[in-house]
Amino acid sequence: MSEDTRILGIETSCDETAAAVVENGSSILSSVVASQVSLHAPYGGVFPEVASRAHVETIYSVVDQALSQAHVGLEAIDAIAVTRGPGLAGSLVVGMNMAKGLALGSGLPLLGINHLEAHLYSIWLMEDEEEPEFPLLALIVSGGHSELVLMKDHLSYQRLGGTLDDAAGEAFDKVARLLGLAYPGGPAIQDAAEEGNSKAYDFPRAWLEGTWDFSFSGLKTAVLRQVRETQPDLKAGVEAPLPGLPIADLAASFQAAVVDVLVEKTLLAAKEFEARQVLVSGGVSANRSLREMFEQRAEITVRVPPLALCTDNAAMVAAVGHRRFLAGQRDALDIDVLPTWPLNED
Ligand code: KG4
Ligand code: ZN
Repeated sequence: MSEDTRILGIETSCDETAAAVVENGSSILSSVVASQVSLHAPYGGVFPEVASRAHVETIYSVVDQALSQAHVGLEAIDAIAVTRGPGLAGSLVVGMNMAKGLALGSGLPLLGINHLEAHLYSIWLMEDEEEPEFPLLALIVSGGHSELVLMKDHLSYQRLGGTLDDAAGEAFDKVARLLGLAYPGGPAIQDAAEEGNSKAYDFPRAWLEGTWDFSFSGLKTAVLRQVRETQPDLKAGVEAPLPGLPIADLAASFQAAVVDVLVEKTLLAAKEFEARQVLVSGGVSANRSLREMFEQRAEITVRVPPLALCTDNAAMVAAVGHRRFLAGQRDALDIDVLPTWPLNED
């Protein structure tokens, strides 16, 4: 079978409405991302009903833009790849219905794609770089997941562990709220931490030795305790940074604790499983300190996508679509979304 493909990707699992056209799983002809950040910011997190409604309002124009920016019509596309899960049910349905409608109207194959797998494949969109080398030890860190995965070959995964409570991105978002910083919390904490001393507070690291799991809820509680110490009257989260709260030091010390555990455990797993390279993906992989620390501590190559491909986008969905299309995947038009779908294991 010819390896030449052009895949339309659609992504609506959380708070970005995205569509993209990708050639051969690696060349991005277009990638359109409509962010809903400003809609959710007043709530300090993603409000599911608001997200679904916004997806409905923007999905047509986002797909239309992706096709027109790629200068192609559906007749030049080989398959439609859409995020099937995991994610918010009401949001996933919007992208899925759009994809089904397009597939039905055009006769093109429909491919339901796992969002975690899509984050992994963001690495294959870096055309100028050398192909990643298997076995890869992958860390997926997003708003909903913190997973350590051994990737032995294309589309082949062994899950080693993951978070037992909050995902890394979720911890950033929750601690940002505690500190009165804006949503999304990751970039806000990163910026606040620039001015801070990462050793100001010795926050706990949950090493969970003997497992490849993570836990960030104890760390979050430790930050809360510290905030309460300086603000004894504080009951719930704060609306804006409070005067007298050492935001920069708290943010820097919190970030250092998260980064420390993520980097150390990932590199340890890479050694243990004799991985040739490390792959880091998902929204939190945009974090400057995380990227720097991997660079400093790793003895093997660490692959991290460019910033625009770390957070949710549809190019990564199309990149998986390419692999799965060539592997023969064709989904029926009545497939359902899978809001809690884990990464498929061998
Ligand atoms: O992958 P993603 O866009 O969506 C999900 O699949 O969840 O990840 C979003 C998460 C949010 O929790 C956000 O705070 C976090 O990624 N994030 C960051 C940074 N940029 C985004 N966390 C730390 N540092 C960043 N620079
Ligand atoms: Zn994601």
